[in-house]
Amino acid sequence: MRGFFISVEGSDGSGKSTQIKKIEAYLKKMNQEILLTREPGGTVISEKIRELLLDPSNQAMKAKTEMLLYAAARAQHLEEFILPNLAQGRSVLTDRFTDSSIAYQGFGRELGEVVAEVNFIATGGISPDITFFLELPPDVGIARKKAEENHTMDRLEMEKQEFHQRVYNGYKTLCDLQGQRICRIDATQDIDAVFAQIQAGLDRLFGF
Ligand code: TMP
Repeated sequence: MRGFFISVEGSDGSGKSTQIKKIEAYLKKMNQEILLTREPGGTVISEKIRELLLDPSNQAMKAKTEMLLYAAARAQHLEEFILPNLAQGRSVLTDRFTDSSIAYQGFGRELGEVVAEVNFIATGGISPDITFFLELPPDVGIARKKAEENHTMDRLEMEKQEFHQRVYNGYKTLCDLQGQRICRIDATQDIDAVFAQIQAGLDRLFGF
């Protein structure tokens, strides 16, 4: 049987990493084979593209270049890692997928519809079986990131408040359009309350 494809989305500082670890632990406890990965990244080539994208010194990068690089990293990740593993019956949990491009490049950079078109080329329209969107007002998320010890802000996190607000609005629009796939979770709640909602979604998907 094909594995399940799961993504976690949210603004910077929304608590994705903590919840991803909890999802992994839970699925392992339930005897599921689960692989963790991330975007941009997840393969050698895609991790190299990630470095280019997040390097704070790449201030000259144009919005279209950024969109295409995220899509290129995704195409490689999907073909080289995600699809072969799903076909082997392993489930894959990715920290971000196409929704991030719609929110950050489509809404944040205001590139609009073309982002979906480019990503259709990159993915052939493949999307996760379930997506958990951790919803947190952007000012709270960015403040959390800044407060993290040893955290250096990447090129996207350094963007101004208006950019992060547009990204947030983009995610909310996506939730309205794709409510079947995307579980919208209030990430201002404590860690266990957030996970309880995620667990309910996993239980439904896996049939536990
Ligand atoms: P991360 O900090 O969650 O690893 O993500 C890296 C940054 O890249 C984050 O600021 C969100 C951004 N991003 C996009 O702008 N578009 C995308 O398609 C993806 C996957 C991430």
